[in-house]
Amino acid sequence: MFTQNTMNTSNSNISATLALWYAQNKRDLPWRNINNPYLIWISEIILQQTRVNQGMNYYLRFIERFSTVSELAEADEDEVLKYWQGLGYYSRARNLHKAARMISTDFKGIFPDKHIDVLKLMGVGEYTAAAICSFAYNQPYAVVDGNVFRFLSRLFGIETAIDSSNGKKEFTTLAQKLLSKTNPGLHNQAIMEFGALQCVPISPNCDSCPLKSICKAFELNLVANLPIKTIKAKVTHRFFNYLFIEYQGYTYIQQRVSKDIWQNLYEFPLIESNRLLEIDELLEERDFKSLFEGIDRIEIIEKTNQKKHILSHRVIFSQFISIKISGKITELDKLIIIPIEEIDRYPVSRLMELYLEKLRLKN
Ligand code: ADE
Repeated sequence: MFTQNTMNTSNSNISATLALWYAQNKRDLPWRNINNPYLIWISEIILQQTRVNQGMNYYLRFIERFSTVSELAEADEDEVLKYWQGLGYYSRARNLHKAARMISTDFKGIFPDKHIDVLKLMGVGEYTAAAICSFAYNQPYAVVDGNVFRFLSRLFGIETAIDSSNGKKEFTTLAQKLLSKTNPGLHNQAIMEFGALQCVPISPNCDSCPLKSICKAFELNLVANLPIKTIKAKVTHRFFNYLFIEYQGYTYIQQRVSKDIWQNLYEFPLIESNRLLEIDELLEERDFKSLFEGIDRIEIIEKTNQKKHILSHRVIFSQFISIKISGKITELDKLIIIPIEEIDRYPVSRLMELYLEKLRLKN
């Protein structure tokens, strides 16, 4: 073993330093020290856009219900989405489900062990394929996630934007060069954990870093400036007026089918507008009128305060209007009528879930 003073910057020394640091500092997480590719896949998909703390319970619940590829493949999509409810980025769950079915049909139900086949699964990109192949099969594919980008850009003082195509190529090549060929799985776990715990985005504790003597960003006082990103995508604003309609213990919901946020989740009838509507404006909306055509009495019970719901590239301004009606809606079109208490069976967005929680508290 070398010490910081005598350490040189060869790739194997960096990898060995990471491995030693990992052995001393790693978190004990349920998807570690396993080599079941199915479980690793589920954990990586959850962790793509979710923090470890939040993802942990979802992971445990998910694998308890769907403990094998075939259990996932045989389930209904609605049930899979229900287990994902609240995690966001629901295409992850839809893709998991489609990919499980693909494994059943195209790979005889056995999780593929070739990198090229793993990449064919819906929702599996370069990062996830490298994670699965290295963690489950110890194959030499370097993972490059946000943590790795940050670590590499600081260690080598690279100012190429990490979200540019050049940057992606440069960092991927570098990560691959650095990868331990004897133990790529361990190396990948270690580099990611190092980025997550030691080389953190804001105010890392460089004094305690075992690589500070060779870190370019540390030497040049660039730690706070790296990595570099191009300008962020613009955030769009949307305005959702939801109608919670009550008719003799029943309510109406619909499934969001278009290619948009929350695809395939369920929600109350929605009137989207270019700002949130007052009640008198709502009553004048064409969609509102056609929804209640032929109904004698429409009673507006309550309008909630506006709620701001923040997603990655959108801010949703929403309000819920509860309405009692004197007759059934006959032109259902895409609407489904359900007993109100059965709404919990359907997968819904976090925004809907929060409203339903409030309703339950009131009743
Ligand atoms: N983030 C993505 N993959 C992870 C893993 N395997 N362990 C901890 N955090 C992660």
